[in-house]
Amino acid sequence: MSEPLLRVENLSKAFGKVVTANGLNFELKAGELTSIIGPNGAGKSTLINVLSGSLSADGGRIFFEGQDITQLPIHRRVQRGLCRSFQVVNVFPHLSVFQNVEIPVLAVARRAHHFFRPVGGEAEVADMVRAVLERVGLAGQAQTPASALSHGDQRLLEVGIALAARPKLLFLDEPTAGMNPVERVDILQNIRRLSASGETTFVIVEHDMDVVFSLSDRVMVLHRGGLICDGPPDHVKGDGQVRECYLGEEVR
Ligand SMILES: Nc1ncnc2c1ncn2[C@@H]1O[C@H](COP(=O)(O)OP(=O)(O)O)[C@@H](O)[C@H]1O
Ligand SMILES: [Mg+2]
Repeated sequence: MSEPLLRVENLSKAFGKVVTANGLNFELKAGELTSIIGPNGAGKSTLINVLSGSLSADGGRIFFEGQDITQLPIHRRVQRGLCRSFQVVNVFPHLSVFQNVEIPVLAVARRAHHFFRPVGGEAEVADMVRAVLERVGLAGQAQTPASALSHGDQRLLEVGIALAARPKLLFLDEPTAGMNPVERVDILQNIRRLSASGETTFVIVEHDMDVVFSLSDRVMVLHRGGLICDGPPDHVKGDGQVRECYLGEEVR
């Protein structure tokens, strides 16, 4: 069997008496679109923070492509291809859409030492930025200031900024927060499409259950620091414990 993209062993995290991860064990496979769901305060954002490195784990280990990354700071995880976006919008409002994506593209280009030849570097960067904008459907708004985009498009831009770093694994924390239902379905279909294209494996936190169950390959349900259910959407939808402690009447 091939190495999982991410493997978590006995991961624990608590804030005082609030336990957000209680000895979690799971693996993420490359190419599998995974949603993390659970009630407010379940620890979804905290889990993403711990996996991406903005918070340290209290115990347990995290392996990325077989390497132990538990102690690595955020930027070292990003270098390896493990990235995340935030629950609140995080773009440079006064810069254009193009410039917002150019920043991470340049950062990646500088990292790959051989990339910049004396001639052609700038054009190559511009091509890469345009390719990212195409992927998230913002190519037509490249010169628009980020602040002038609709909320939904700002969230798409964030996904673009994250994709520009060419992550292997990308956590999106509530990418549809504050969106209207149409924008929501749009962005998630976009993510589904990007996921199918294979370069990046996505893990999203999302509230809209219809969307979660229709678009995910796998759903992980977090409740009081434990994974109470984990599997394909149909399995999770039919799970008694999930219905009882979380989904209630929402599941049809
Ligand atoms: N930095 C922090 N300090 C103290 N408590 C926190 C901190 N971050 C989150 N918490 C608490 O941990 C629990 C889980 O929060 P969070 O991970 O944001 O949940 P979710 O994203 O599932 O809604 C909540 O009770 C929250 O108040
Ligand atoms: Mg959250």
